[in-house]
Amino acid sequence: MIKDQIKKRIEEKTACIGVIGLGYVGLPLIVEFSAKGFQGIGFEVDKLKADAINAANSYIVDVPDEDIAKCIDSGKMSATTDFSKLNDCDVVIICVPTPLRKTKDPDMSYILSAGAEIQKYMRPGQLVILESTTYPGTTDEILQPMFEKAGYKLNEDFLLAFSPERVDPGNPQYQTHNIPKVVGGVGEDSTEVASLLYSQIVSDVHSVSSARVAEACKLWENTFRAINIGMANEMAKLCGTLGIDAWEVVKAADTKPFGFMAFYPGPGLGGHCIPLDPHYLSWKARQHGFDSQFITLAEEINSGMPKYVVKLAADALNDDKKAVNGSKILILGVAYKNDIDDMRESPALSVIDLFRAKGADVVYHDPFVPEVTFDHAYTIGDGEPLYNQDLTDDLIESADCVVICTAHKTIDYTRVMELSNMIVDTRNALNKEMRDSSKARIVRL
Ligand SMILES: NC(=O)c1ccc[n+]([C@@H]2O[C@H](COP(=O)([O-])OP(=O)(O)OC[C@H]3O[C@@H](n4cnc5c(N)ncnc54)[C@H](O)[C@@H]3O)[C@@H](O)[C@H]2O)c1
Repeated sequence: MIKDQIKKRIEEKTACIGVIGLGYVGLPLIVEFSAKGFQGIGFEVDKLKADAINAANSYIVDVPDEDIAKCIDSGKMSATTDFSKLNDCDVVIICVPTPLRKTKDPDMSYILSAGAEIQKYMRPGQLVILESTTYPGTTDEILQPMFEKAGYKLNEDFLLAFSPERVDPGNPQYQTHNIPKVVGGVGEDSTEVASLLYSQIVSDVHSVSSARVAEACKLWENTFRAINIGMANEMAKLCGTLGIDAWEVVKAADTKPFGFMAFYPGPGLGGHCIPLDPHYLSWKARQHGFDSQFITLAEEINSGMPKYVVKLAADALNDDKKAVNGSKILILGVAYKNDIDDMRESPALSVIDLFRAKGADVVYHDPFVPEVTFDHAYTIGDGEPLYNQDLTDDLIESADCVVICTAHKTIDYTRVMELSNMIVDTRNALNKEMRDSSKARIVRL
């Protein structure tokens, strides 16, 4: 029986684990399996990434070179662009991107292409797991028929499951091995074997009754965040109207030990998950005639935040009899969250673009991001690339307005405050003590 066959290989650690897509999710995953003694093969379309891994050069902050070197030197891990090696794998885990199209519909092309490679090289006796975030039904509506078309039967020739990734880049406390893993198979055998597999590298595995439940679980989690951030953003604007400090309110509310969870306002959603994933859910629901109003409203509020930030700066400049047009704006932090280099969907891009569309001269400082490029399809400003500037005294002093978009911990905010003329703080980076002692004009979200 296929179930017992794969289980035995997992228990004996003789199973070969293939991971398709060695990005933020796939790279730490294959390193975990290889470090636990499994043979790991990473499959990449990007030859530069495959070469970097084989040379033990990490391009993901959370995965140190030494961890990769250990796996490569022990012969337990390799990366390749040769997908025929999928045939050597007992388990194949798909970790490819799931972006949105310009129309905000799911872009399934990466999953389809990874599925097609598996279809081409699969053999009886394999477990395939999808980890990419996607709408409920992807695993059994798209992947299962692909493999069946190749002549293989579920439960007889292959097993199939979905297990969402919850990695939080830059989080030193929670990484792949200590984040509980939800697993749902297409059928009981798939759930059982996929759960056994993850229990080799993760301390807490939670099995659910189907791949669809696991797919929906991930989207529920991220929709919960998008909606709560939307509420925090709306409350920040509301508090601003009433002249109340929104950050102080959240801090106070967060003292309640039950029934409250703090979410914070900011310049907009960023990253590969929160701005995109709710669209996967609402798109699927729409196919079934259901319109998710919460998701739409949160999207409307969150995507309006960059404009709100620019308005705060424009109003403050106006009070100083200055126009945005011709003003020098220094953006502090452009990554989508603090202390990482990830620029995907970063709201700072929209903030910069909106300032430039109004004629501002925008510069930025971000120790993690050497260059920022713009997708011309989405820009209304000039769309020219920008390059990180050293945070010199002159750079700070010469800015008409400093806008803190990302609160990297390495930035000396006391110095920024001392030298600035005006600061728009969208992240509560400046504490009360700093603010009280500042001569700069400070506008907070
Ligand atoms: N980054 C996160 O924090 C995070 C968290 C949870 C879930 N996810 C989800 O995990 C999935 C992967 O995200 P990521 O952040 O690792 O993306 P990523 O862009 O960092 O990595 C994806 C990798 O897949 C490679 N790739 C693309 N198509 C391929 C193919 N056909 N075959 C082989 N390799 C291919 C790319 O070159 C890239 O290296 C997405 O669905 C994402 O939503 C991401």
